[in-house]
Amino acid sequence: MNIQWYPGHMTKAKRAMKEDIKLIDLVIELVDARVPLGSRNPDIDELAAGKARMVLLNKSDLADESANEEWVRYFSGLGCHVVKVNCKTGSGLKQINPTVQEACKEKIERDRRRGILNRPVRAMVVGIPNVGKSTFINAFAGKACAKTGNKPGVTKGNQWIRLSKTLELLDTPGILWPKFEDQKAGLNLAFIGSINDEILDREELALELIRFLEERYPQSIEKRYPGVEGNDGDSPSAILEQIARVRACLLKGGVSDNSKAASILLDDFRSGRLGRITLELPPVSAQ
Ligand code: G4P
Repeated sequence: MNIQWYPGHMTKAKRAMKEDIKLIDLVIELVDARVPLGSRNPDIDELAAGKARMVLLNKSDLADESANEEWVRYFSGLGCHVVKVNCKTGSGLKQINPTVQEACKEKIERDRRRGILNRPVRAMVVGIPNVGKSTFINAFAGKACAKTGNKPGVTKGNQWIRLSKTLELLDTPGILWPKFEDQKAGLNLAFIGSINDEILDREELALELIRFLEERYPQSIEKRYPGVEGNDGDSPSAILEQIARVRACLLKGGVSDNSKAASILLDDFRSGRLGRITLELPPVSAQ
């Protein structure tokens, strides 16, 4: 499957982010726990050079828990402060404030030495589309937050959300774009719904997902769709056809509606109904 991907406004977004990053102490980067490397843009390392870094492993509820732990170790090893979160339920968010303090300990100490007391840490949330930035800001900032007025130098329209005496958040998240060099990484992004399905062939995508699941999570399909028996050697299209049949997705004349079955499978995967599934493991353990 050949994925063509032409994200618009890349240069403009990058330029705007470069400006905004000058104003902040800490970059809070959200990644999708199911595809933690594929759902980030490595350019952030250059853009955020010299800033304290936090990685939030979001949607951790949808990912394999043992893989989540491996990813926490991986990002910690890169010098990032990592927190596993589920922004939809708020799980893990309590850990963020202490982690911010830890991540910005040097800045806080530097301020103290200069006699600057209680200057809040200024943070910016970044991530590719659909990774959960708005959900995070809403859940973390909550209703209690107060927007502070525009400050000089902040891109017009941007405001700071004062979360506490010690933390201010830029209210507009920095949108990165996914960057993938190979088709496998592109497929992973397509599986989680980060590449518009309209430019993809959903049926082909579903076949690729079946191929992956049969190899790495062999029980997931049979468990979700009782009646489907993925016998060894069954091709992905035979399995998709079985899903269509057990879900009564039939066209005139009793022909299976594979396109509808593909949509069901992809939706079930994306919402976690196939179980907690991680699509990529950290480079070391993948070897
Ligand atoms: P963005 O600003 O980065 O583009 O992402 P946004 O917050 O809009 O979130 C994208 C989707 O991901 C939303 O689902 C949101 O509910 C879901 N989401 C965010 N964080 C989590 C999480 O930790 N776990 C799970 N399971 N889902 C999460 P949606 O289908 O677009 O909207 P809705 O149906 O939830 O309203």
